[in-house]
Amino acid sequence: MEIELSCNSYAFESLTVEPFNAEPPRSALISSYVTPVDFFYKRNHGPIPIVDDIESYYVSICGLIENSKDLFMRDIRMLRKYNITATLQCAGNRRTAMSNVRTATVAQEEKMIMLSPGLTSYEMQHAVWSGAKLADVLELVGIPNLTSVTRSGGKHVEFVSIDKCKEENGGPYKASIPLSQATNPEADVLLAYEMNGEAQYSVVALFLVVWATSCLNPVELTSWLTLNSNAYSKFFLSIIMPKPLNRDHGYPLRVVVPGVIGARSVKWLDTINILAEECQGFFMQKDYKMFPPSVNWDNINWKSRRPLMDFPVQHNTETCWLTVRNLLTRGRECDEAWKADPQLLYNLQAKVSGYAVSGGGRGIERVDISVDGGKNWVEASRYQKTGIPYIADHMSSDKWAWVFFEVIIDIPHSTQIVAKAVDTAANVQPESVETIWNLRGVLNTSWHRVQVRVGHSNM
Ligand code: MTE
Repeated sequence: MEIELSCNSYAFESLTVEPFNAEPPRSALISSYVTPVDFFYKRNHGPIPIVDDIESYYVSICGLIENSKDLFMRDIRMLRKYNITATLQCAGNRRTAMSNVRTATVAQEEKMIMLSPGLTSYEMQHAVWSGAKLADVLELVGIPNLTSVTRSGGKHVEFVSIDKCKEENGGPYKASIPLSQATNPEADVLLAYEMNGEAQYSVVALFLVVWATSCLNPVELTSWLTLNSNAYSKFFLSIIMPKPLNRDHGYPLRVVVPGVIGARSVKWLDTINILAEECQGFFMQKDYKMFPPSVNWDNINWKSRRPLMDFPVQHNTETCWLTVRNLLTRGRECDEAWKADPQLLYNLQAKVSGYAVSGGGRGIERVDISVDGGKNWVEASRYQKTGIPYIADHMSSDKWAWVFFEVIIDIPHSTQIVAKAVDTAANVQPESVETIWNLRGVLNTSWHRVQVRVGHSNM
């Protein structure tokens, strides 16, 4: 296995090169309900591994179970394939705003991420993940659905990766989730091998197929196919099979734990370990925990807090992001001016839009918008898919997915536009980042504010 630096994302703001961390420009974030793979943020703690021999790649399932097993990709692909629409969010999303309140000591590479000019951490996106359910995989090793403890005392499922990181002293990245969640089919935990169901046909390949079927006579074609059946089937499969997972996002296999902070969705899966205690890895025990404001680097006791799981913590369980656009475009010059200064509006009405999401599969009950800094509010409309009304927590809605919102609103003068979301458990975003400051700068779910200036235009 080789280790290689990956940098295949043209549309990205590259934050650090090794490990490779990047995020999309703000305008791309809500350009579509399902984020195109090229716009997906990348968050890595070590160099991206290359798995080039897929035939010999397997995942070992071991630990506190009766029978250990090695599963090859073909075994995993034999299991029923599920498509789960889920939003992935890094716990460090919007960390920059939190570190502006009080500087937290962070790892060097995180410092670089936070200090990148103009970046505010848009580490959130949304994909259709395809793969086998972890609950089905665990059934193969004799752990029935809805099990909390195995006969040998296993209560946690640890995912160990191939990539190595310095925080683990050169060992693999790892994380765990409770066995009860892993064996619950409703929790939709996936071992994903595809993302966004992308087909990989190329124009050239399609042209060759069309040419072969129209130009060659049927007898010639049949004899050629008989002689070259192996090569042909490989070629044909390669153009109609959905694209495998992108290497940056965990090829050939990654875990997707919907509704939970991104750090538990381990990429480049190597081993699944059934343990009595939760994973003791760095990112479970010494990172991605939330401490009270009194805790600093001198008095921190890592064991005093639980690893973060559902995003975000209760009572702050939604995040919501705003973009403001001029409703009417008054020609190219106005457009150019707006591009140069997105805070500058030329019309008295604007479209305020964004996304809201809550952890643990809870829907979004409401999104409130204020154009006077939070004194008066109007409710925005919410949607996921066009033509289907969004009803929070209803079967027709994607429960692990973000919800878009928009409202057209009068903006009479320069002001601050504010948004806050409420989830189905009535959790509301906290008003200010100051009140939720924490040493590791995680889970900044405070109201998002956008300052706008209303200009006068003769255009
Ligand atoms: N898995 C491995 N093996 N190594 C990593 O560094 N980063 C985690 C998680 N899984 C990580 C990992 C973090 S912190 C996040 S937020 C998500 O992957 C990011 O997933 P993405 O890069 O596919 O967007």
